[in-house]
Amino acid sequence: MIVCYGWRPFLLFVTLVFFLTHFLSVMELQQDSHVKDSNQKKYKKFDHLVLGPTAGEGLPNRLQCKGTKALNKIQISSNISNRGDSVTFVTVFTVYNNSNVDSKSTIVGKVSYSKVDRSMAVLNTFINFIQLAMPESNMVILTDPASRIPLKRNKVTVYSVEGEYSRDKLMLQRIRSYIAFLEKKLEDHTRNPNQKINNYIFTDADMAVVADVAEIFNKYENFHLAVTFRNNKQQPLNSGFIAVRGTPDGIQRAKVFLEEVLNVYVTKYMKASRMLGDQLALYSVIKSHTFFNEKTFGKAEAFLEEINGASVLFLPCLIYNWTPPEGAGQFHGIPLNVKVVHFKGSRKRLMLESWNFLNSSSSSSSHGLSDMLCLVLSSGRTKYDF
Ligand SMILES: *[C@@H]1O[C@H](CO)[C@@H](O)[C@H](O)[C@H]1NC(C)=O
Ligand SMILES: *[C@@H]1O[C@H](CO)[C@@H](O)[C@H](O)[C@H]1NC(C)=O
Ligand SMILES: *[C@@H]1O[C@H](CO)[C@@H](O)[C@H](O)[C@H]1NC(C)=O
Repeated sequence: MIVCYGWRPFLLFVTLVFFLTHFLSVMELQQDSHVKDSNQKKYKKFDHLVLGPTAGEGLPNRLQCKGTKALNKIQISSNISNRGDSVTFVTVFTVYNNSNVDSKSTIVGKVSYSKVDRSMAVLNTFINFIQLAMPESNMVILTDPASRIPLKRNKVTVYSVEGEYSRDKLMLQRIRSYIAFLEKKLEDHTRNPNQKINNYIFTDADMAVVADVAEIFNKYENFHLAVTFRNNKQQPLNSGFIAVRGTPDGIQRAKVFLEEVLNVYVTKYMKASRMLGDQLALYSVIKSHTFFNEKTFGKAEAFLEEINGASVLFLPCLIYNWTPPEGAGQFHGIPLNVKVVHFKGSRKRLMLESWNFLNSSSSSSSHGLSDMLCLVLSSGRTKYDF
């Protein structure tokens, strides 16, 4: 059961955690991930919104908030001309339906969810955000042929890809499904060489796209695939956002690149935690082809590298994969040009609550979105029940 703390001990705790983690990063202790783990155990998981102070106060180009009221606005569209190529978001999603085991239900807003309903709600919210921010885009859900996803949405296609979708193999299967999808797209191009170019963005389903991310394909003209990086020594890459240029060349090189990641995963990281293997494999492939020193990922600016025949664009997580901290790490607020917010770990509740907040506000323009991001910012340090 959830124990509710009063406000003051919570603030004290936040301050203490901030102090501890800051202290640790200054000391650059090798064992710091171990200490973080024991810190995280102290987090209570909440079944309702818990707001705290907002980071980034006074910093230039960051969202400024007064409670859940934004004092400035994020940019929701850019002025980079769109060449008319379309974008398809691709995500791997499956439901684990053992209704007899998971009888407990969760309440978000006025709705009660079973465990399966809850993951469907996350998927639907993922779709809601994309359709609001990028109404022209399409979506593809890659799934287990055995899971019948009860989903009926416009511009969303469900594709079955054979494979092994058990929880502990899901990250591995995800790369395989991405590769299978790219293979199919290559075949389509061979069959119909004059078709329109359609770019792809592979993402986790616990992400909210809040602005037009398709601009990357025009802003950075020469990449085949793009990944997101952050200033984190052990795991500088996050696999939650991978963009692929939809030219036959782009698809082909992205496929070869992902096949190498898959191969490294299978040979080196099968024993890694089920959530991390793909990220470790991704970084391993990149490291084996290019020299990176410690400073490479220190600056949140995009850069391009040739890796095994592919031009790989590195995009800062800060803008394309913004994540509230997992109790530690960098947390300097939300930049005004943020495009994608990632509700990692125990923040799926916050994703649903954020959508409800946005949908109930009178405006879903950049104003409503900015207010919603103030909610995310002030709540991002909280761990939730799902
Ligand atoms: C629009 O373009 C101008 C000139 O290229 C640039 O300085 C400005 O930052 C751009 N604005 C946005 C919102 O991207
Ligand atoms: C889960 O299983 C129950 C009982 O077998 C069934 O009624 C329900 O439709 C299933 N849900 C999904 C999403 O497959
Ligand atoms: C938004 O809110 C309205 C009114 O409460 C509700 O009917 C609708 O289903 C909501 N839409 C989404 C996509 O959540």
